[in-house]
Amino acid sequence: VPTRPDHVLGVGQASLSLLQATPTDRVGSVLDLGTGCGVQAIRAADHADEVTATDINPRCLTLAAASAALNEIDIDLLEGSWFEPVAGRTFDRIVANPPFVVSAGRVEHSYRDSGLDLDGASRLMISQAAEHLNPGGTAAMLASWVHVEGEDWRTRVASWLPSHGVDAWIVQRDVADPALYVGTWLRDGDADQREPEVAVRAEQWLDHFEEQGVEGVGFGFVYLRRTDLPSDVMAEDLRHAFTDALGDEAIDYFRRLDWLRTHEVLDARFAVRPDTALERVHLPGEDGWDQVVVRVHRSGGPAWQHEVDDLAAALLGGMRADGLPLGDLVSLLAAAHGEDEDDLLTQSVGLVHGLVRHGLIEPV
Ligand SMILES: C[S@@+](CC[C@H](N)C(=O)[O-])C[C@H]1O[C@@H](n2cnc3c(N)ncnc32)[C@H](O)[C@@H]1O
Repeated sequence: VPTRPDHVLGVGQASLSLLQATPTDRVGSVLDLGTGCGVQAIRAADHADEVTATDINPRCLTLAAASAALNEIDIDLLEGSWFEPVAGRTFDRIVANPPFVVSAGRVEHSYRDSGLDLDGASRLMISQAAEHLNPGGTAAMLASWVHVEGEDWRTRVASWLPSHGVDAWIVQRDVADPALYVGTWLRDGDADQREPEVAVRAEQWLDHFEEQGVEGVGFGFVYLRRTDLPSDVMAEDLRHAFTDALGDEAIDYFRRLDWLRTHEVLDARFAVRPDTALERVHLPGEDGWDQVVVRVHRSGGPAWQHEVDDLAAALLGGMRADGLPLGDLVSLLAAAHGEDEDDLLTQSVGLVHGLVRHGLIEPV
């Protein structure tokens, strides 16, 4: 039986990955946009006083209502497109696994096609979500973005956010080759590319990608927080394997950002986190081992890595909870190694900002 256009998605890989990636701190209100069978909304009820869930497809709302009743949970279910059913309302948290499939805007299945061209669905959601957040409220969403010839994907996604009032942490988990991408989604909708009609659809889809200069399709998590400050947008490629759930890391990430905004790092004391390791890689050289790279990495969270040099490694080695403030530590290091103190101070501010943001070191 072919998948019907108003198919209600079961709990799939994407649903599970968003469940894992959603923060678990307690909040007052949650909006689940595009609730489908209600899986995100039902989980959200564990951590929130009130849950509102929306969908464009009435069959989804019927199923979500049944799921909520079986779980003896109260969910406010609203029918409508995107943020229309919650116009003028704000929430402490938004979760969304939207119909983000990147195509030429044709709707074949409401669970995955938005009717918007290319990454228009993710763009709409990312650009409008913050308006529906309370101050300090956070959003955890799945999204997709195209990689276009001559454009950095990070600039593309960052351009969807306002310059004021939003902190964003955008994590690219994978990038798919266009042909593989189209094949995967055709198979997902039970279309067989050996059939002539499906082969034509695949060709039109790929032609559209080519006309628009699409070289790949990126996919990942987008975390937003509403603030009353200039926006801070961090978009990064974290495609390597890691198992920690990102939801609570995202809340910590925003907390670390707050700290950086309100402190002068040179006056602060830092400690290296217990899950941060220093790694030196050596390769055989003419006179024995040659050091080729030094890096610090965190085993927790998304396993961030930073390449450092020997001076930075020495600086980190000198950090103690009861030790010197960073500025004094850098001055000592500059004197000991005959380095220019001002240069080293400037470099260490950049280094420490990056390491605090990613949680490899923490203020004490
Ligand atoms: C990928 S499914 C996610 C379902 C569920 N939240 C989950 O995580 O498994 C996307 C959902 O968005 C709904 N949807 C599609 N277009 C929409 C729109 N314009 N506004 C709101 N919801 C929409 C679909 O009906 C579908 O239930």
